[in-house]
Amino acid sequence: MKNLTHFLITLALVAVAARGGDQKLPIVQQKALDENSILFVPQGYDAKNNPSFAFEKPLKTVGPVPKNWKLVPHFSSHGTSTKVVLDVPFQASLYGTGEVTGSLLRNGKEITLWNTDNSTYGTAHGRRLYQSHPWVLGVRLDGSAFGIIFDTTWKAHLKTTSQQIIFTSEGPAFRVVILEGKTPQALVRKLADLTGKIPLPPKWAIGFQQCRYSYYPDSKVREIADQYRARHLPCDVIWLDIHFMDGYRDFTFDPERFPDPKATNDYLHKHGFHSVWIVDPAIKIDPNYFVYQQGSNLFSNENFKVGSSVAGLKTAWVLTKNGQPFQGEVWPGKSVFPDYTMPEVRHWWSGLYHNFLAQGIDGVWNDMNEPSVFTGPHLTMPEDNWHRGGGGLPAGIHRMYHNVYGMLMASATRAGILHERPDKRPFLLSRSNYLGGQRYATTWTGDNSSGMHYLKMSIPMGLNLGLSGSPFNGVDLGGYAGKENSDLFGKWIVLAAFFPFSRAHTAVYNPPREPWVFGPKIENVTRTSLERRYRMLPYLYTLFYKASQHGDPIMQPVFFADPKNLLLRSEDQAFLLGQDLLVVPRWASLPRLPGGIWRNVSLLPGKQEEEDGYQPRIKIRGGAIVPLGRVIQNANEESLKPLTLLVCLNEKGEASGTLYEDAGEGFGYKTGGYALTHYHAIRKGKTVTVTMEKREGSRFISDRPVHVQLVVNGPDVEATGLESQGIVLKLNKRWF
Ligand code: NOJ
Repeated sequence: MKNLTHFLITLALVAVAARGGDQKLPIVQQKALDENSILFVPQGYDAKNNPSFAFEKPLKTVGPVPKNWKLVPHFSSHGTSTKVVLDVPFQASLYGTGEVTGSLLRNGKEITLWNTDNSTYGTAHGRRLYQSHPWVLGVRLDGSAFGIIFDTTWKAHLKTTSQQIIFTSEGPAFRVVILEGKTPQALVRKLADLTGKIPLPPKWAIGFQQCRYSYYPDSKVREIADQYRARHLPCDVIWLDIHFMDGYRDFTFDPERFPDPKATNDYLHKHGFHSVWIVDPAIKIDPNYFVYQQGSNLFSNENFKVGSSVAGLKTAWVLTKNGQPFQGEVWPGKSVFPDYTMPEVRHWWSGLYHNFLAQGIDGVWNDMNEPSVFTGPHLTMPEDNWHRGGGGLPAGIHRMYHNVYGMLMASATRAGILHERPDKRPFLLSRSNYLGGQRYATTWTGDNSSGMHYLKMSIPMGLNLGLSGSPFNGVDLGGYAGKENSDLFGKWIVLAAFFPFSRAHTAVYNPPREPWVFGPKIENVTRTSLERRYRMLPYLYTLFYKASQHGDPIMQPVFFADPKNLLLRSEDQAFLLGQDLLVVPRWASLPRLPGGIWRNVSLLPGKQEEEDGYQPRIKIRGGAIVPLGRVIQNANEESLKPLTLLVCLNEKGEASGTLYEDAGEGFGYKTGGYALTHYHAIRKGKTVTVTMEKREGSRFISDRPVHVQLVVNGPDVEATGLESQGIVLKLNKRWF
């Protein structure tokens, strides 16, 4: 009998194997990282074939899983792939999943996690974009939240149905971390605790930015800068795309177009601009090109230790499965690609920024780093290419490292910028990235197109990136590809004021798309939008500070205002900027807005900015104090003379808010060189008193004029005074 049972079981297993069925993988370790995050490790997990990139620090478990823990993953293996299934709590709303097209709500979606240069988000390459975030955030009916990190870099597919979240990796068993939070806000902070926060950017990087593929020669760059200043359109950054290079060779300058890049940067600096210049990973195969020469002989240089994994190989390049440098075509023609999994290669890459930045370049743009390979399968390199790893990273095939190729490049670039300028905050934009990559680079959503569909989509895309740990993000304002018309440009540029990363950009084959080419009407619309942004910089910079400290999204979904209100769960036309301002686009149809006090507010003194028909409506939350500055032309101009406090009382007649200030650059803020001021307002009878409650940090703020604007039903009530003294507003009419 015993033998018969054994025989039948064996038969059943063989049958499963023959059908290629799933084989359950038991959980061999489940431990708490803290009371709200649990690490689940399945049988078969081996860090040597599943290197972890998402977390800022190695995970440390502290104890057993708390009793009544709700969400548990079910692991199974299926041939060479691994599947994790989770049961979705009843009627939960799903979000996150990183850089994705489509609606804010991610219920019933399917995506492939395989970083892809998917220009204009075509479906020819499947539902893939430039970045991968193996992450889902859920909000239950009661407003409590959960999150799942699938800790694998392997190519994967994510499917959400009304009942299940199914994550299938084309690789071996991997770990899963599940988070719980009382609110979605608490949950996003938890994600940031584990995967890292954005570094506080230099203040100029939160100003408006003008890009084009490409501005050249150098006189054109100066002309664009001059136009911005002459037309009083606030702007902080001019971008230099690939045409500045000598034949698309990284770290070089075309001798005719840019004979003196330092002079170009000096000119920009003199006029209050900063510059960002592009660097791609593809290195032109050219025996006379110094980067190609250095990289091809990297390990024959005695400065570099030859590890066993690279013995006998001199090159820094990613290899084919046969051990030869992989070659593929990108802008420079036939190219090779640095293997950033190798610490020596990252170190060398960092060093290349030495001479480059010496030209007065302020920020760097890493593009095409999925990597994009025009002649490769699915526009990238073959999945069986070979990476040599080192310094704790195992050697492995491209399928394992593809999704972190851009992240590794960005980490090496950031290290290089920091090394060159240890006293300055690096600014780096990367097109490709991976969960946790906000630690190294800002991002944008790549090649969109000019069309209402793309304009509308730019909002949920930004929101979901923020809900995936990457709050410093934006889109190509105006649209990268496609035929533009002035009305669409107007509709899009008015959002420039409210996207965390605010940059207009367009492709090489499009006619110029600077705001003035569309005539005076759209130029005025743009000016109003940019003036709104620059007036809000004190508030915006405070939001960036909070994002860098806690991971709070800058642009937030409306449901954050009331996570229990199910009607708000799918709203992705209107959005919040921080928790205090609500942005409602003019084209929004039947937007679902939160209940409670939200009052219309004007951001520009004496201007009915919405009268142009383009600017979104702005509402301020009852209970908020929002700090504003003057309209300035670049972020480093003195803005807070006077400081304006927009005050909107709640039902109890109170409001509060904060203002963060520092040098706008450098790291002094880390050792106390900042001022974080807390303001409070309270109504007693017909008098509202506004006070500065406390100030944290050691930055000295001299007395400055403060203008208080009490936002009420009807014309605002205003008062001025000095910041160090409480300001008293007397209300002489019924306003509530
Ligand atoms: C692709 C990027 O997405 C785009 O923004 C850039 O202009 C081109 N590469 C040229 O560098």
